[in-house]
Amino acid sequence: MAVWSAPGKVFLFGEHAVVYGKPGIAMAIKPRVYVTVRKTRHPPRVKSPYLEKCFELMGVNGSVYIHSQLPSSSGLGSSAAVTVATLSAINDEFDLGYGRPEIATMAHSVEKSVQKGRASATDTYVSTFGGVLLIQGGDIKRRLPPEDFHLVIGNTMVSHSTARMVEQVGKFRATDPDIVNPILDAIEAVTMRSLHVFQDQRALGGRYMDINHELLEALGVGGHPALTRLVTAARAAGGAYGAKITGAGGGGSIVALCPKRSKSKIAGAIEGCDGRAIITTIDNEGARKEKEDERNRTDKTRR
Ligand code: PMV
Repeated sequence: MAVWSAPGKVFLFGEHAVVYGKPGIAMAIKPRVYVTVRKTRHPPRVKSPYLEKCFELMGVNGSVYIHSQLPSSSGLGSSAAVTVATLSAINDEFDLGYGRPEIATMAHSVEKSVQKGRASATDTYVSTFGGVLLIQGGDIKRRLPPEDFHLVIGNTMVSHSTARMVEQVGKFRATDPDIVNPILDAIEAVTMRSLHVFQDQRALGGRYMDINHELLEALGVGGHPALTRLVTAARAAGGAYGAKITGAGGGGSIVALCPKRSKSKIAGAIEGCDGRAIITTIDNEGARKEKEDERNRTDKTRR
């Protein structure tokens, strides 16, 4: 039996634009997904297309148990974390000898095939390697120094479909390229400018995250009123440096960058607007092997 876990992620900058080869910056966060894989003579049929693809790609069969601290379909990379932890656990249990870069590449190909080609490498790379990564063109451009960022995530509890949101932006771009392409260029500029102020959280949040949020609104992915409510609550009532949608939008979550002392106040403001708050920080580890007694935790949910 092998037990592995992998973290979720937030996009600090560049979601949607990364699908068109632009840079994106994403950070691994503390909530994790735990996966147990066992060699068994008669493995049960797996129900999730992600898990099915993982076993298919690795060319083996086994049973799999999942326990997730991450809400699914909420923009926090839970499917990537499940995929990365599952591939890592299969690799370990069946002694296949793949390294971390190969796991990241395979995880990306699983996501791409399940999401019909519409998946950047961001979620799977961040979940595999941890930390803060600058991603572009399907590859890690740079690992950014670990920052002491205090984040409050606000989950709208409105589930979204990443594939559908990506498709919506694609259609908008096909009909109005003269509008959408400059927005994608502006998101790229914001992402690149943010690198110059990475140590200045006030500027990073208050200027660049906020601008990135407005650009996502312009792309049409801010659509759900709950997102606007949570962003406004985090900024105004809570005193965040800045706040934006994180992930595909149309529901899902927002992320607020905030002073340490304001975390609880911001979480309270989010909960006051019917959102679910998660106070979190960076996870520098990425995918990791867990002790076997994790089994008690992982056995709770079976897929
Ligand atoms: O909502 P999430 O966590 O699936 O993030 C989607 C981010 C997109 O840029 C919209 C798509 C992608 O594959 O990067």
